[in-house]
Amino acid sequence: MTRRRTSELGQKQGRASAFWGLNLALALALAGVPGVTALDNGLALTPTMGWLHWERFTCNVDCVEDPQNCISEQLFMQMAELMVSEGWKDAGYEYVCIDDCWLADERDENGRLVADPKRFPNGIHHLANFVHSKGLKLGIYQDVGNYTCAGYPGSFGYYDIDAKTFADWGVDLLKFDGCYANDFESLVEGYKYMSFALNQTGRSILYSCEWPLYSRPFQEPNYTEIRQYCNHWRNYDDIFDSWSSVKNILSWTASKQENLVPAAGPGGWNDPDMLVIGNFGLSWDQQVTQMALWAIMAAPLFMSNDLRHISPQSKALLQNKDVIAINQDPLGQQGYRLRKEDDFEVWERPLSDLAWAVAVLNHKELGGPRNYALSTNVLGKGLGCAPACNITQILPVKKELGLYEWLSQFKVRVNPTGTVLLKLQPFK
Ligand code: GLA
Repeated sequence: MTRRRTSELGQKQGRASAFWGLNLALALALAGVPGVTALDNGLALTPTMGWLHWERFTCNVDCVEDPQNCISEQLFMQMAELMVSEGWKDAGYEYVCIDDCWLADERDENGRLVADPKRFPNGIHHLANFVHSKGLKLGIYQDVGNYTCAGYPGSFGYYDIDAKTFADWGVDLLKFDGCYANDFESLVEGYKYMSFALNQTGRSILYSCEWPLYSRPFQEPNYTEIRQYCNHWRNYDDIFDSWSSVKNILSWTASKQENLVPAAGPGGWNDPDMLVIGNFGLSWDQQVTQMALWAIMAAPLFMSNDLRHISPQSKALLQNKDVIAINQDPLGQQGYRLRKEDDFEVWERPLSDLAWAVAVLNHKELGGPRNYALSTNVLGKGLGCAPACNITQILPVKKELGLYEWLSQFKVRVNPTGTVLLKLQPFK
């Protein structure tokens, strides 16, 4: 199999651009955000929800020493079963996703990808059928460059054949990583080309990119362009199972919010990476913070945890209907940081029906819970409570706070590193 040259990619891309141009009107309608086009595959009209193996199970390929936790078909079948039996599917989590390290070391004689035969003895098509039989969808991972980040065969030179292979297997989502690209141009062209190739298969395959993360060292990402090709895109470093990692993602996102927030909308989302709730690194309050802020950020909700071993408290948080409803709000506008003062941060997100979500995060890691007083006239661009609103506390526990008039004050009490998440609804 000869590798596709960059010039050939360029030619194909010319056709892809014409294709996207023709579909501009439909894309605009789907985007729902005037002037911002989205990938017109009709997918991810609200942020994608599912499970992804990477943070919790990484590249564990040792099924001899660690058969329960290695990357194998058994792991994904177990997760799929639990997603149905333990209420995850009913809560909205739909995609069971394979990350890196599922591949054999070589392609087959026809240049097609092959899953590791020991760890996936029945192959990906069989796994997809199993996942579909549970009413769920299957996600897979590949890379725009010569190798995946963990060193398995990458898609460069094989974009069409890989897209077709995934479609033939019944794959529903592709996470496309950005390691080992030859240069900046082939990275960008490769991301675009794969979008086109997936579309050409005729199968609905959600396209999860890491294009801006890998292109940022070369130039500031053009989100108007990225939205036309990807359903969501990673912007920043990989998440780890730690508070410092969650904090870094939040502060980086706030620092870039002027560019990031307008880019998000139905069909295309900023992806701050997986939920690590239910693992080892976050305290209860920090788990609340991750869930609340991922809802404010309209983030895809991919849990990376072990659904076989998860505390009832973490499970209830991840399945909390009111928080999920904020994350999935059909208006599809991403929230932003409104204020940062005295070790508190206030974030807000506009919701449908003139409602607002508001999160107050206490960053002070000294002492106990602290009160934060807010005046209603600063929220919702000044109008969230005009002339009055009902305020419901959603997290850490649900509580009706009552009716507040414009210009009135209210207080929230927030644990160290925790968040209070509120919903403001106009009084009718
Ligand atoms: C990169 C990605 C991660 C994960 C690993 C797999 O680091 O950003 O999300 O997919 O590669 O190797």
